[in-house]
Amino acid sequence: MSKLYITGRKRLGGGVRLQGAKNSALPLLAATVLARGESVLYNCPLLSDTEASLRILRWLGCKAQRSDGTVLVKNDGITRHDIPDALMRQTRGSIMFLGAVLARQGRARLSLPGGCAIGQRPIDLHLKALRRLGAVIKERRGILDCRAPHGLRGADITLPFPSVGATEDIILAACTASGVTTVTNAAREPEISDLADYLNRCGARIRGAGESVIVIDGVRELHGCAHAVIPDRIVAATLIACAAVTGSAITLKGVIHSHLAAVLPVFEDAGCVFAARENELKITAPERLRSMRIVRTMPYPGFPTDAQAPLLAAAAVADGTTVLIENIFENRYRHAAELARMGADVKTEGKFAVVEGVPRLYGAAVEAADLRGAAALVAAGLCAEGKTELGGVRYLDRGYESFEQVLSALGADVKRV
Ligand code: EPZ
Repeated sequence: MSKLYITGRKRLGGGVRLQGAKNSALPLLAATVLARGESVLYNCPLLSDTEASLRILRWLGCKAQRSDGTVLVKNDGITRHDIPDALMRQTRGSIMFLGAVLARQGRARLSLPGGCAIGQRPIDLHLKALRRLGAVIKERRGILDCRAPHGLRGADITLPFPSVGATEDIILAACTASGVTTVTNAAREPEISDLADYLNRCGARIRGAGESVIVIDGVRELHGCAHAVIPDRIVAATLIACAAVTGSAITLKGVIHSHLAAVLPVFEDAGCVFAARENELKITAPERLRSMRIVRTMPYPGFPTDAQAPLLAAAAVADGTTVLIENIFENRYRHAAELARMGADVKTEGKFAVVEGVPRLYGAAVEAADLRGAAALVAAGLCAEGKTELGGVRYLDRGYESFEQVLSALGADVKRV
């Protein structure tokens, strides 16, 4: 098991180009199941989660190969409708294959997806929506056996919560359904719009992606196309947190500013200054951060739950008290106990975390338990006095492409052993 060794209190500088968005690449890779012929995904990040999706595509009968950031998928016909448990459990992104395989094969058999320990991660909204589209789904001992013997047909679906994954699964299932599907209270994340852009270029007819009501007019079939994955706004927020805790000035390249509209004001409250130019964003952090006071995570366009952990690390070394309210997942403060081992003063209770800024954190041996918690511990290690030994680096590799190389290029002292 590799570990990261971080020697803190190094100021960062320079610029870094953002990787492609993990949470866009995963549904896009599943969507290639629907598109006959060749699809090319540019700016597809090299992550354990995306490689897991490529393995699922190969299992289903596609040719999928990567050269650097470009992934080529050749879909001359899907030969299976089942995904083995070993492949399903490697990533949460695997659930995206449910809607796509069911739409393509009229049948899908897969086990419940894996994912981080940030909550129960149910898929009841996915299943309820697919049943509305005409799917017959049997759940038995963790295996989902889904059929649509007469194909899927359009329906009006209202989500009780704007679930990102459920919205994506519905879009994937409804693209080639017969008739029109309307999704009300759909998730509005940029990754939804990115998926719709790709599918529309493949011949789908999806309107309103990025808004709360999405209308999908089913078409007969989709053909492959080329598409560039949007930049990863959560990696951007993580790098902003890394600059904020080290009093650094760095430039992010390949940024879509609107994706960070709820993130920048929080760091501005803490004393950071931002300068935006075309698709670049420069952040200049103060010597000492001020507290962010109250931050609540919300569905997009609110403050993203995936940026809560890195933000908590920044709050730990900010002057004053910060209250975080995690409204999306029920167990997303596992990094708090590890930060406390580094000297942070954090009290968590349910969805609340009360963070009292301390003058300094101290390097320690800490263990990540999930993807964004790992990122929070890296940020804490960058500003801690002394050396931090981070275990659970596999969690970091699920969402951050060569993160220690990115940070080293910015001047951090980070080594993977
Ligand atoms: C996606 O997860 C992302 N993952 C998550 O990123 C992200 O935190 C989340 O959206 C919210 O933005 C991918 O895109 C692969 P949800 P997803 O469905 O689709 C509950 C990361 O760190 N829910 O919007 O699972 C659920 O339990 C990951 O990159 C149900 O109750 O998120 C949660 O409390 C973590 N039933 C809330 O809704 C369902 O059927 C939000 O979940 C589905 C979800």
